[in-house]
Amino acid sequence: MLKPLKKAVLPVAGLGTRFLPATKATAKEMLPVVDRPLIQYAVDEARAAGIEQFCFITGRGKTAIVEHFDVAFELERTLEMRGKKKELAELHAMQQEPGTVMTVRQQVPLGLGHAIWCAREFIGDDPFAILLPDDLMQCDVSCTAQLAQAYRETGGNVVAIEEVPMDRVNKYGVIDIAEDKGRLVSVKGLVEKPPIEEAPSNLTIIGRYVLMPEVIGHLAKMEKGSGGEIQLTDGMAKLIGTQPFHGVRYEGRRFDCGDKIGFLEAQIAFALKRPEMAAQVREFLKTYV
Ligand code: G1P
Repeated sequence: MLKPLKKAVLPVAGLGTRFLPATKATAKEMLPVVDRPLIQYAVDEARAAGIEQFCFITGRGKTAIVEHFDVAFELERTLEMRGKKKELAELHAMQQEPGTVMTVRQQVPLGLGHAIWCAREFIGDDPFAILLPDDLMQCDVSCTAQLAQAYRETGGNVVAIEEVPMDRVNKYGVIDIAEDKGRLVSVKGLVEKPPIEEAPSNLTIIGRYVLMPEVIGHLAKMEKGSGGEIQLTDGMAKLIGTQPFHGVRYEGRRFDCGDKIGFLEAQIAFALKRPEMAAQVREFLKTYV
């Protein structure tokens, strides 16, 4: 019987150099889109997929993330005394069960594959989701829930994929297609950031995965790949042939919030989805364009 998907790993150890000086003293995952930090969107998305246990792969200077998911006792008392019911409800809605959020420090920045390997004790023998919080998803059905559904259908590894213009494939993990069935694409190979002329397709991996625990054994070999880093894509590639491996054309939009333009676009797109501010945002945008 298929094991239920209950765990998620969120790598948050990156330095966020592209957002300096904003990220000098705070984690880039704490930068807000409208009124909530990037990390919260990822956690909410995972919860909507039935994920109950979270492991953040952190590093120095990331304590705000841990604080964010803790109970802020003094703040809640103050809100209570002031009768701020709506704000209190917001805080309560995001509260995690005690003992369901843990952190592991990556210690050395050896790559995404290494970051995931650091969660090996948390993962144990269970399937797990990975969410890269820089990729902010706007989907009617949580992107991780779409992957969880595909995991139940295929019984194996699934990664969210999208088509990008051929001249951008060298920025992503790229899949080599065995069979394109539309929503699901069975995968026969994976390459991390290939030179454009060597890319097997223009179907790229975005920062959402559901993987089987066996990937850890491959990552443990610490083999260096693209950019001299230990790549998750290389570890995943080793699973192909031994376990089902599919790409999922997810429904929705992705905003690359690791990039300033993507981050700005996300602010607008998410503000326009908020009924209480959409009209005003639309109005002021007219004065700029
Ligand atoms: C990582 C992965 C890459 C994936 C991308 C999606 O790259 O290594 O395979 O396509 O995330 O955002 P990074 O953006 O961290 O360089």
